[in-house]
Amino acid sequence: MQMLVVDHPLVAHKLTALRDERTDSPTFRRLADELVTLLAYEATRDVLVEPLRITTPVAPADGVRMAAPKPLVVPILRAGLGMLDGMVRLLPTAEVGFLGMIRDEETLIASTYATRLPDDLSGRQCYVLDPMLATGGTLAAAIQFLVDRGARQITALCLLAAPEGVAHLERMLTSIEVPVTVVTAGLDERLNELGYIVPGLGDAGDRLYGVV
Ligand code: URA
Repeated sequence: MQMLVVDHPLVAHKLTALRDERTDSPTFRRLADELVTLLAYEATRDVLVEPLRITTPVAPADGVRMAAPKPLVVPILRAGLGMLDGMVRLLPTAEVGFLGMIRDEETLIASTYATRLPDDLSGRQCYVLDPMLATGGTLAAAIQFLVDRGARQITALCLLAAPEGVAHLERMLTSIEVPVTVVTAGLDERLNELGYIVPGLGDAGDRLYGVV
């Protein structure tokens, strides 16, 4: 597994404001959106393109266009929805599939409650959106889901990650041949006894959408 912690002053600035408990939901949503677009820029460095010859008003020129099959963006509901607009802003031609996953707050085990994804993901580059890589259970289950459907390459975008979650993914990925990359704005210290990232930013879903 490749892990990329994006080191950029604008990323650090937006992450700091996201972490701040005084940041209200509308501001949190806007900042998360902007931060994801910055992460998406790094996460799509190896998105598949093909050569394209065009003509400028001055002369012929060689360029590229996005190659088929289209990339697939997969927000994990509910909090991953807060990352969707920021991602598709950079990848407007991508398709979007959905995975609804919830973790049991006592056992911290993730289960799937909704899916809307193509059955066959052969050859597809998949971008999973999951704001908090905490225990890693949810992301591991999502990756396994996509691998089982034939994904060619998986990149996870997370606002924050914990070392425990990264270790969990690394263990799980020893049995998987599909290349997986995690792109995040920060690798924090640890998880607390409730499974929250420390210092983290709290419950990402609640901060995006309120406590419902
Ligand atoms: N999910 C969250 O929303 N926050 C955490 O810190 C961990 C999991």
